[in-house]
Amino acid sequence: MNSGDASSSPTTQVTLRRATEADVPSIAEIYNEAVRTTVATFDTEPRSLDAQREWLHHHDPGHPVLVADRQGHVVGWASLSPWSDRRAYDGTAEVSFYVRSEERGRGIGRHLLEGIVSTGQELQLHALLSRIADGNSVSVHLHESLGFRPVGVMREVGFKFGRWIDVHLFQRMLP
Ligand SMILES: CC(C)(COP(=O)(O)OP(=O)(O)OC[C@H]1O[C@@H](n2cnc3c(N)ncnc32)[C@H](O)[C@@H]1OP(=O)(O)O)[C@@H](O)C(=O)NCCC(=O)NCCS
Repeated sequence: MNSGDASSSPTTQVTLRRATEADVPSIAEIYNEAVRTTVATFDTEPRSLDAQREWLHHHDPGHPVLVADRQGHVVGWASLSPWSDRRAYDGTAEVSFYVRSEERGRGIGRHLLEGIVSTGQELQLHALLSRIADGNSVSVHLHESLGFRPVGVMREVGFKFGRWIDVHLFQRMLP
């Protein structure tokens, strides 16, 4: 975690809580900014509010969405999604996390990733997976520092912004 006083460390004012339907516009805004400007997601078109609401409803208590809330303002979110609908995969979930661009680099992403890993532990999940697009060194750094390890590389499985993109699969086992 970052250290320092509240002015230099905004995470001290950020709390993590379960997302509610009222958070859907903020979640969509943060996600759609990443859709438009990054390869973190392979969505290429912004998500409508209805689609984002449906996405949230598909996240049952066993697959929660957390938001990072600073005094009523959502600055990021993280989720656990089913890896597959095949029942033998029930102990495995996929991690996603996004922070508003103007809030990045202040420890909020680490806070969210720590929070979603803890939530996975509380839910007694067995394994967490993350797909990280090639070049996302910040995400790789955060995952590795929280115990995720590389599993392999899927070569050129995405095409966005005019180029083919590798995806790195990272995994963390939960005790
Ligand atoms: C990935 C993301 C969630 C991280 O959020 P954030 O709030 O910026 O992250 P933090 O400030 O908590 O941490 C950034 C870390 O990366 C490190 N870092 C910064 N630049 C880096 C670089 N070029 N290479 C490696 N590490 C870097 C920082 O030192 C910090 O590590 P530390 O906590 O050990 O000091 C955010 O950048 C984001 O929303 N990106 C777009 C969506 C995305 O990529 N999501 C992840 C999909 S797998």
